[in-house]
Amino acid sequence: PTTIYPDQHVASVNVAQRISALIRSKQQQNKMAVLGLATGATPVRVYAELVRMHREEGLSFRNVITFNLDEYYPMQPTAAQSYVTFMNENLFEHIDIKRENVHIPDGTLPLEEIHEYCLEYERKIEALGGLDLQILGIGRTGHIGFNEPGSAPNSGTRLVTLDDLTRRDASRDFGGKENVPRKAITMGIGTIFKAREIILMAWSGKKAPIIKKAVEGEMSSDVPATYLQLSDNVEFVLDVDAASELT
Ligand code: F6R
Repeated sequence: PTTIYPDQHVASVNVAQRISALIRSKQQQNKMAVLGLATGATPVRVYAELVRMHREEGLSFRNVITFNLDEYYPMQPTAAQSYVTFMNENLFEHIDIKRENVHIPDGTLPLEEIHEYCLEYERKIEALGGLDLQILGIGRTGHIGFNEPGSAPNSGTRLVTLDDLTRRDASRDFGGKENVPRKAITMGIGTIFKAREIILMAWSGKKAPIIKKAVEGEMSSDVPATYLQLSDNVEFVLDVDAASELT
């Protein structure tokens, strides 16, 4: 299904409420909530709202385990552009999550260790019973996570090569495209698909053409997000501008 909100703020508050409802319901059952998280501009207000709920409404993250979708490769966690820094600044350093419950792909590994590391990332998720909820943004190439065009629907966590358009879109953060890493470690489309619930968010007219393709276009590895059409557990959460090209 597709849900369209008047603006990204209202939409983000709604998504944050769903996340907090999941966390609280797991708390009542004495269980952990296992969340798949995204970085980038799209989820920033969702995280801000979760931080507000923690501060003002006593929402605790003691029973939350997180797995981030991706990280650039190579990337030092302390670098300003790392997804570790992004998550710390936007969420983790403002809430009471246990550090050992946070998982973000490691951008510092030697090449030959990445394959085994990625298999272990998958095993950890599975050992916890899988992701309860996966949050996604979408890139203008149609990527989810960093699953660029050509990604297989059953792909797992792995090292990938970033598209030129993706690197161009990231160039502002890095002060020029030439500084954007060429690779990333990302959960696969298959990994994402195993989540019990998936919410893909998109805001602004800049995303309208790719949202049209993702929601209404023919399923194809040219636009990896079209694979989400296969799942009944996916919701597209859009603002009016991102939805403006839908029929
Ligand atoms: C980020 C990620 C990417 C972004 C996408 C949109 O962890 O996996 O797929 O969600 O590139 O980025 P923004 O939100 O910056 O437009």
